[in-house]
Amino acid sequence: MTLSNYAATYAQSLADPIEFWRQQALAIDWIEAPQQILDSSQTPIHRWFPDATVNLCHNAIDRHVHAGRGERVALHYASAMTGTQRDITYSELLADTARLAGVLHGLGVAKGDRVIIYMPMVPECVVAMLACARIGAVHSVVFGGFAPRELATRISHAEASVIITATCGYEPNRTIEYLPLVKAAIDLVAHPMRAIVVHERPERGMSDQEHAMLLRGQANMKNSTVEVVTMAEAIEAAAPMAPVPVRATDPLYILYTSGTTGDPKGVIRDTGGYMVALKWSMEAVFGVTPDEVMFTASDVGWVVGHSYIVYAPLLHGCASVMYEGKPVGTPDAGVLWRMIERYKVASFFTAPTAFRALKRADPDGTFAKQADLSAFRHLFLAGERSDTDTIQWAESITGVPVIDHWWQTETGWPMVSNYAGLGLLPIKYGSPTKPVPGWDIAVLDDAGKALPAGEMGEIAVRLPMPPGALPGLWRADDRFHKTYLETFPGYYRSGDAGYLDDDGYLYVMARTDDVINVAGHRLSTGAMEEVLGGHPAVAESAVVGIDDALKGQMPLAFVVLKRDSASDQVPGECVKRMRDQIGAVAALKTVLVVDRLPKTRSGKILRAVLAKMASGKAYKAPPTIEDETVLDDIRSTLVDAGVLAAETD
Ligand code: COA
Ligand code: AMP
Repeated sequence: MTLSNYAATYAQSLADPIEFWRQQALAIDWIEAPQQILDSSQTPIHRWFPDATVNLCHNAIDRHVHAGRGERVALHYASAMTGTQRDITYSELLADTARLAGVLHGLGVAKGDRVIIYMPMVPECVVAMLACARIGAVHSVVFGGFAPRELATRISHAEASVIITATCGYEPNRTIEYLPLVKAAIDLVAHPMRAIVVHERPERGMSDQEHAMLLRGQANMKNSTVEVVTMAEAIEAAAPMAPVPVRATDPLYILYTSGTTGDPKGVIRDTGGYMVALKWSMEAVFGVTPDEVMFTASDVGWVVGHSYIVYAPLLHGCASVMYEGKPVGTPDAGVLWRMIERYKVASFFTAPTAFRALKRADPDGTFAKQADLSAFRHLFLAGERSDTDTIQWAESITGVPVIDHWWQTETGWPMVSNYAGLGLLPIKYGSPTKPVPGWDIAVLDDAGKALPAGEMGEIAVRLPMPPGALPGLWRADDRFHKTYLETFPGYYRSGDAGYLDDDGYLYVMARTDDVINVAGHRLSTGAMEEVLGGHPAVAESAVVGIDDALKGQMPLAFVVLKRDSASDQVPGECVKRMRDQIGAVAALKTVLVVDRLPKTRSGKILRAVLAKMASGKAYKAPPTIEDETVLDDIRSTLVDAGVLAAETD
């Protein structure tokens, strides 16, 4: 394909989006094909394929089996933590998924009901997601690194009555025991649970005591008839269930993500639009054919995992690699390269932080050079800003183009990218390149006026967004409108700031809200401050993201104590509190006790100034600062704590 393919395709997608997406929708097996492509009658809400019916699971599995491709591998599973390797064919995936769908149906889960999936990286997690899709149930996968309180918030908000979980997951330094976490979470949930389905990992089953403990989790609930079911046994005993027709606009999943406040936002993903967009992206963006292998090293708990470990590769009929482990240390920095060689991976997708970890552990790229990477064509990086050093290092050790691309949980698939399929555009380091067909990207000033090239502003998308983007937030219409649609009428507000250059390349520079990005994980500093505020000695706090060479950003907390509180124990207690209440993934290691926080005269904490100062960057106190001497005290605290080097002059 040639470069002009991108320009022509992009122009066509914006000139006539209805015709453009009508064409792409032909790639889907509909039950009732869409007659209407886009419903804009409720603007600013737009719905794609409003009159169509479909089943995603059919498109992701049955369809390939019916086409005689059942013996092809759907999932290559490898766990560096247990040494397990398993190849699962489309026929095998169908057998398990259809029966787990039967199990869920037998447990009373009906179309539209919500099911929480809280699992480590095991194939059964994919089976669970697809089984929900098969019966039209709405899944909400919760990342395993979240603590019970976060899990409980999601169970309650989604009003899910069934949880699918596993006995354990494995991190390098410990085994994550899921069952006590699930028990602790359901103890916090007010509505009755119907069932807990437990995948017993081959290395670790569920004991009778654990079974009983999960039942006891429900003891405080009147009329509760919770069942604890072991997944393999239930699948064995269940009758397979056929795919259930759902409307294209019905929700496929809710994925909670961080926003400005402590309450996670439940991003809704529709079914039909998402399928059309993902299927098309596999060809145009990722340049992968159905005979090839895609490896996305992320976690199914994040949107990258939903879209490019599970749904897009399977909709396209590819083999998807699912990996439990880290890029380094499990056991070494060669594990990813050996997998790329073993499975003949064409497209590898991960977060820049993984490459920073590889670069640190194996600066000469010895492992990559030892591996046979002849099938490998493109490396994709997303989830956080890609720094030029890391991209160039990755290029030099792999010899393949490195494609930085920008998107979010909300959008479901890439908004700005380079193109393995449509033709590679010249790479400009620091930019994820140009808007993906369907996405009309603008950079706006505070008044919502489009800014000229080179000027930094809020990155926004002109409505309607293409299929796949969120149609709303679960049971939070007001928040959806306020957060995304009201600031700039006619646009979706991304929450990122950046600029376009003269050639139309986008540069994504920073968040405009209190979200930070730690090792590709999106975290809310507001949520962390709420946790710190719950400590009895803490009067107020500010959490900011500071630059980190490995993880991109790391959280740093400043706390002001209540009068007469002893300070010695507080930092340690705050760190523990964060792990207990948000989870290890919050990665808060440093808590500094200060006398005061820098504020404006109207009382707003100057978090941006704190973040810059703690990262050793130049900062300017705004003229509205209440008392500038506070900054000197904060600087001394940062130097004393070793966060900042002492000034030598
Ligand atoms: N379940 C339970 N705990 C988890 C977890 C999970 N699924 N994933 C991570 N954690 C824990 C880790 O064990 C760690 O705990 P610790 O503080 O006791 O060591 C903590 O959460 C922070 O984890 P992480 O941010 O992953 O850091 P790490 O030091 O374990 O690994 C990297 C660093 C760079 C190797 C790792 O972050 C990585 O591979 N990132 C890839 C990026 C990625 O997948 N991003 C997703 C979006 S694309
Ligand atoms: P998430 O919703 O967890 O996928 O996080 C999305 C956020 O990560 C975006 O809003 C950006 O802030 C950041 N992000 C993702 N990809 C990139 C990228 N390629 N460059 C810069 N920032 C990115």
